[in-house]
Amino acid sequence: MLQDSFGRRFYYLRLSITDVCNFRCQYCLPDGYTCEHDRDFLTLAEIEKLAATFAQLGTEKIRITGGEPSLRKDLPDIIRRCKQTPGIKQVAITTNGFKLPEHLPAWLDAGLDAINISIDSLDPKQFQLITGHNKLATILTGIDQALAAPHLTVKVNTVLMRGFNGDHLAQFLAWVKDKPVSLRFIELMQTGDNATFFDQQHVSGDTIKQALLNQGWMPALKDKTAGPAQEFYHPEYAGKIGLIMPYSKDFCASCNRLRISSLGKLHLCLFAEQGHELRHLLANETATAIASEITALMADKKVSHFLQDRLTGATKHLAMLGG
Ligand code: 5AD
Ligand code: SF4
Repeated sequence: MLQDSFGRRFYYLRLSITDVCNFRCQYCLPDGYTCEHDRDFLTLAEIEKLAATFAQLGTEKIRITGGEPSLRKDLPDIIRRCKQTPGIKQVAITTNGFKLPEHLPAWLDAGLDAINISIDSLDPKQFQLITGHNKLATILTGIDQALAAPHLTVKVNTVLMRGFNGDHLAQFLAWVKDKPVSLRFIELMQTGDNATFFDQQHVSGDTIKQALLNQGWMPALKDKTAGPAQEFYHPEYAGKIGLIMPYSKDFCASCNRLRISSLGKLHLCLFAEQGHELRHLLANETATAIASEITALMADKKVSHFLQDRLTGATKHLAMLGG
């Protein structure tokens, strides 16, 4: 099992398969995607090799992310190959959901276990203002279909922004009253490109936490392999609320994930100073040899993301690496 010098274990891989995105989320790609390199993204064969390599190292879960992963036509094949890799128990995807109803059947057929969909507002106009697309209704239809699929875990991500959804808590809570979905509020993170927006829009998740506790929501016990979200439940609500607070003390202590960029670099943290090139190895080396290179790189993993010191590493925006 991969382990770093702080005793953290990494059973979870986030694999970006493209950095292209068709949305223009205010905090991520407000001016839309601009191509800054060859679109020479990891091939299906390279992805298969990576999955096998990480599985050898104890990885049990792969989350496919982007950019927007569904912009790749071979996404169902990617899901299937990851899922068929011995040792990989769970394959998840993070998507903006723009064509969810159309894509979902093929993803399910390929063996998808879990899906995270981003919705920053349940108000269609506000949603369009944030993302540049009038797609909320389609995405909500897709979510209902996803909730109806047996054995599919469905989560919704909402990035907190003071001026865009800072006062939308009641609307979100009303939505999860009867929907068995896990809605997670994510504190806005600073990236290389969004410093001004961050300063204007960042709000701490503490305000939400306090409001939830005041309204009878209770913190759920965390199990050992849980991600960074603190979860809350309420006996009168079908859904759950999660809080992801990257600026809180000890956030990084439970880090259990590594990241691969769509160009095949290993990032030891979302906000690492650099990625480590793996592509030349994928072409020439066995999974076992690549695995030992990756094990050696773990010594470089830092204790924290240092976001609290406003260090954002090489990450200009999250479309580069996925959230
Ligand atoms: N801060 C917090 N969350 C972000 N995401 C993208 N950029 C940021 C940021 N700067 C979220 C997206 C999506 C997930 C992939 O990451 O909204 O839910
Ligand atoms: Fe696209 Fe996700 Fe960035 Fe929005 S946050 S622009 S959906 S990559």
